[in-house]
Amino acid sequence: MNTYRSHHCAELRKTHVGQKVTLSGWVSSRRDHGGLVFVDLRDREGLTQIVFDPQAIPHSHDLRSEDVLKIEGAVVARPEGTVNSKLPTGEIEVQAAKLEILNRSETPPYPLDQEGVNEDLRLQFRYLDIRRPRMLNNLRTRHRATKVVRDYCDEQGFFEIETPMLFKSTPEGAREYLVPSRVNPGMFFALPQSPQQFKQILMVAGVEKYFQMARCFRDEDLRADRQPEFTQIDLEMSFIGREDIYRLIEGLLKRIWKEILGLDINTPFERMPFRQAMDRFGSDKPDRRFGMQLEDFTETFRNSKFNVFAKAVAGGGVVKAMNAKGFACVTQGQIDYLTEQAKAAGAKGLAWIKVEGGAWKSPIVKFFGDAEKQALTEKLKIEEGDLILFAADQWLAACDVLGKLRLIVARQLQELGKLTLPGDVYDFLWVVDFPLITFDQETQRFIATHHPFTSPVTEDIPLLKTEPSKVRGQHYDIVLNGVELGGGSIRIHQPEVQRMVFEEVLQIPKDISASRFGYLVKALSYGAPPHGGIALGFDRLTAILCGADNIREVIAFPKNARAQDLMTGAPAEVEPRQLRDLHIQTMPKPA
Ligand code: AMO
Ligand code: AMP
Repeated sequence: MNTYRSHHCAELRKTHVGQKVTLSGWVSSRRDHGGLVFVDLRDREGLTQIVFDPQAIPHSHDLRSEDVLKIEGAVVARPEGTVNSKLPTGEIEVQAAKLEILNRSETPPYPLDQEGVNEDLRLQFRYLDIRRPRMLNNLRTRHRATKVVRDYCDEQGFFEIETPMLFKSTPEGAREYLVPSRVNPGMFFALPQSPQQFKQILMVAGVEKYFQMARCFRDEDLRADRQPEFTQIDLEMSFIGREDIYRLIEGLLKRIWKEILGLDINTPFERMPFRQAMDRFGSDKPDRRFGMQLEDFTETFRNSKFNVFAKAVAGGGVVKAMNAKGFACVTQGQIDYLTEQAKAAGAKGLAWIKVEGGAWKSPIVKFFGDAEKQALTEKLKIEEGDLILFAADQWLAACDVLGKLRLIVARQLQELGKLTLPGDVYDFLWVVDFPLITFDQETQRFIATHHPFTSPVTEDIPLLKTEPSKVRGQHYDIVLNGVELGGGSIRIHQPEVQRMVFEEVLQIPKDISASRFGYLVKALSYGAPPHGGIALGFDRLTAILCGADNIREVIAFPKNARAQDLMTGAPAEVEPRQLRDLHIQTMPKPA
């Protein structure tokens, strides 16, 4: 028998009354009452109330939060009126006969039962932070979801295979973490952004079904749903098409929702072409839990007296608008903020109309004719109290701006209590038919919308040479409640198509594409089977399962927004000797 415990701290019930038990754990709280000392003893599973008689156990008076105790005692029913129905062990308490203080704790830097504590402080004392029930439950959920994934993939015939962490730099995607090689002076590994190329090569190698709980590394600017190292449920299959991936992932998510949340989700999931997602929701990951869909008014304003709109249309652009229902109470400050956000998203301005006191209030409404007003009223179902927002630009840019405003406005309306999102809705959606390539404003050239290994839709292949921007990729994203949970594609398996995409479509010079991806093209030329796969962001998935609004809540040791680990102090400077061994010289720090 374990000498530290006969039971865990969430286990004892009325049926145990009279038993002698041993419990170990941390002091969650201590109260001195009427000559008795009450301690809530906490372990990973829960709390049990311990009662000490300080006459018999004098040092029970000195117990402090987070001290580590071993208790022996008898289970007794709590006296009438002191039962705590919120606690699974709330009907009993343990009368301590023996107390052993296994270790002492410094006073914690913040009370562990308090929410809303500064996150940097939480991360600095992550071992205390994780001790809290909510965090331990998140890690428990993460563990259980991992197990469901492994069991499911095993049943479906997948091999779990580890791919290297020390990989080659492939500067096509996100910024990478580089690792110098001591034995190859001046040479660097890169940590993988994903196992993409290895998993494709495993298909060439005849593995047929691969999966991995894969660690990925991306040196990106961090947000609530992004970490520099994160985990993917990464998988790849041979001799399959898109439908096979949809079925597999729907089955996996169904199983996870059933086993973790006890909920039945409906499959198959709806599918929406990228064009429609952008057109209606202004996003390739639409949150459909609320309305405020985008409407098109290009024709309405083609000959408008409002020059901004007419000019946009004459230039081949569109006019789109959305109705922020009930937001006529918007303040000038909020309008300014929305305008700033629209401009940050690339808009030239933000036209708006408030419908208040039976009138349309707006600096631009004087330019509108009756037909224009009527078209707006009908399509946007305009009523007293509404706020209308406009974007006039090229189609994608206009959709994108309104899509971003739609999310901001929804959050503002939620804060005002004018919009409530249903709590238990899980709106799964496949977004499909993405363009294979996208024009990148920053570099002024076409880049792969996802990655350069995505296969074009077969009937679009002839367009590759003539109108590559019209070619659709065999890519799919799985979206849940406006979160991009994962994405994948059917890959190019013919070496000549892959070479054409690198060199002709993406215009990567031949020598560069050969040195970066030559080995992959070579592997494809040795009998690559048709194959495809997907990766789901496991941190994002777990955050949704836990109801957490931030993936840091489901990662044991995440980095903060500056990509630092505040507990260990990483990243940190290293010894000059280490740098010498690695043949590295550093520059003075930027001021
Ligand atoms: P992609 O780059 O879309 O695809 O990544 C797949 C999923 O991983 C999650 N994700 C992240 N999670 C946390 N922090 C990050 N910084 C981060 N970046 C991405 C997202 C995303 O949907 N190799 C391809 C997949 C494939 O084609 O099979 C890939 O990595 O949930
Ligand atoms: P202006 O005539 O440039 O002063 O613009 C009149 C109004 O239209 C202002 O509220 C601008 O913010 C807005 N506006 C300007 N350009 C656009 C655009 N491309 N899309 C939507 N609104 C715009």
